[in-house]
Amino acid sequence: MSNLTTIDKQYVANTYARFPVEIVSGKGSLLYGSDGKEYIDMGSGIAVTSFGQNDPVWLQAVTEQLGKVQHTSNLYYTEPCARLAQLLCEKTGMKKVFFGNSGAEANECAIKIARKYAAEKKGADYSTVITLENSFHGRTLTTLAATGQEHYHELFQPLTPGFAHTPANDFEALKALALQQKCAGIMMEIVQGEGGVIALDADFVKQVAAFCKEEDIVLIIDEVQTGNGRTGAMYAYMHYGIQPDVVTTAKGLGGGLPIGAALMGKKVENVLGFGDHGSTFGGNPVCCAGAVSIVERLNADFLASVKAKSEKVFSALQGAKGVVSVSGLGLMVGIETEKPAKDVVAFCMEHGVLCLTAKTKVRLLPPLNIPDALLDKAIEIIKTACAN
Ligand SMILES: Cc1ncc(COP(=O)(O)O)c(C=O)c1O
Repeated sequence: MSNLTTIDKQYVANTYARFPVEIVSGKGSLLYGSDGKEYIDMGSGIAVTSFGQNDPVWLQAVTEQLGKVQHTSNLYYTEPCARLAQLLCEKTGMKKVFFGNSGAEANECAIKIARKYAAEKKGADYSTVITLENSFHGRTLTTLAATGQEHYHELFQPLTPGFAHTPANDFEALKALALQQKCAGIMMEIVQGEGGVIALDADFVKQVAAFCKEEDIVLIIDEVQTGNGRTGAMYAYMHYGIQPDVVTTAKGLGGGLPIGAALMGKKVENVLGFGDHGSTFGGNPVCCAGAVSIVERLNADFLASVKAKSEKVFSALQGAKGVVSVSGLGLMVGIETEKPAKDVVAFCMEHGVLCLTAKTKVRLLPPLNIPDALLDKAIEIIKTACAN
């Protein structure tokens, strides 16, 4: 064990099972370990570094802003915050944005919006938020309660009350639950990421959206992992032709700096009023400047290139030796392998490719602009890992 590993193990909380690699630098889709080894990054810091490491456009935006003002609090106006909110609204048709610092916070904000909206429209007892089984919405006590996976709940009771879970892709079950509970909101990921990279059925998504409209229930789409170009659309819900009331996002929005956002549609744009919500760091000008440099580049041509890279990954892996199935959307890919996923990931790491897992699958979330040559090389190594 290196000295750094020993210090980390001694002083950092034991919440992460780290791989035995110390990353010291990176450039684009390549990462470098302290031993000088080069890795192709097929994880992007779990869907965060959208344009890779050290991306010159992002770096310039962030460092320029750092040289101007790094933090002001939300007591004052700053240009990057306003500009980012405008860009996000223009690209989605949403009306207003609340900025926080993470995906969990974005979801907390969305839940507050749904509860306040329902309380004002229907009465305070309309507070239940329905989410899907196998979902993941964050680690705070409220977003853990929203997360539809029991094993995350066990050690942290009592969780925030007012959540109910229903199976994905079973509209009748969801409808029955929503009518039986006094339902404020329905929250779901379009592709369940931590749950194993599983896209929801298009019919189910459309039925839920129509039902929310009919019943005046707040529809929240959690785009923390799927958002900001990851699936080949600006947001994954756009593949399904629906219009959510709230879209939450984080991760890839900042390109590597912490930022989360809850985007509010027309129905709920004025639900949050003065004093209803806040965040010291939310809307931080440096994070927002970085995010502007990301969002500005997510145009039709760029999204088409994400789709093309995705097709390359899917067609190379589907039917490959040792691969049982390939799931996901865009550059959010789950590989069901004959071998245990962790063995595939270990082989890949040894051969210079960093992959992730999700449940029992190998998960790929490469930078959205990964060069084709690197992507091809990584795919070959992943295929070899699956086959051997
Ligand atoms: C769909 C989804 N929602 C929420 C979160 C929580 O985000 P954060 O870790 O930024 O709080 C995650 C993180 O993996 C996620 O994938």
